[in-house]
Amino acid sequence: MITVSKLAPALGAEIGGIDVAAPVDDATIAAIRAAWLEHLVLRVRGQSVTDPQLLEFSKRFGELDPPGPNPYGKPFLPQHPEMNVISNIKEGGAPIGNLGDGEAIWHADMTYIDNPPKAGLLFSIEIPPKGGDTFWANMYMAYESLPTQLKAAIEGRTAVHDATYNSAGIKRKGYKEVTDPREAPGARHALVKMHPETGRKCLFLGRRRNSYVSGYSLDESEALLDHLWAHATQPEFTFRQEWRVGDLMMWDNRCTLHRREAFDPNARRLMHRTQIKGDWATATPA
Ligand code: OGA
Ligand code: MN
Repeated sequence: MITVSKLAPALGAEIGGIDVAAPVDDATIAAIRAAWLEHLVLRVRGQSVTDPQLLEFSKRFGELDPPGPNPYGKPFLPQHPEMNVISNIKEGGAPIGNLGDGEAIWHADMTYIDNPPKAGLLFSIEIPPKGGDTFWANMYMAYESLPTQLKAAIEGRTAVHDATYNSAGIKRKGYKEVTDPREAPGARHALVKMHPETGRKCLFLGRRRNSYVSGYSLDESEALLDHLWAHATQPEFTFRQEWRVGDLMMWDNRCTLHRREAFDPNARRLMHRTQIKGDWATATPA
């Protein structure tokens, strides 16, 4: 049986006693799923996993969701288009993966679509000697601890989740720059959502850039969003992942945000990544 040990007060747990590359029985998958719903972010260390093995393991948690459009307009792994590459490495002058070596600002994945993925899995193959840590934040906690006026200010409101830029600030292929957030292309989501599986309410922010809260002037919306983001990303709500080669991280994309620190552009960082289709169609409005 697997072991589960907490990694930080707010969220995150380490899973022990499992080899992701080997066939995993249903009871173990059920135990991992339960730990994932409880702790939001899971880490499995010391893994050695091929792409087909990572795909097999990922599929145990639901249908794979292919990567969103990257800035270069074609899959990084043509033989596995459902797998994404997160890397700053260039081969022959061309990037072999997404997100480069700069900071990736706080975000949840692909919330610019109506049904964003429920889970992300990220497996580290090469890591820089320092920098490039990833942080996750707990959006149940963020919602539950929201000051009363802020809760009231977002009650029944939606926000736009801009599709134009990725979390590294790079424009996605085919999008024009946004000058007015009210007209940003991308899904409109309720700011408070009921988690489809746990039934708990969480704050659903997506990303800050070009966000806009319905029913307010642009200035009011900006001020409100600044308050919400400052509240939601305070250090007490976060867990910091200091990567080792062979770490597999698996997060609940419905009730967390994440960000990544910049690292030395001369260092190499390589991760392979999958994600699982969302289940928002089954959710009850909060
Ligand atoms: C992602 C992501 C952060 C990182 O894969 O969705 O945001 O640490 N990655 O590379
Ligand atoms: Mn991400």
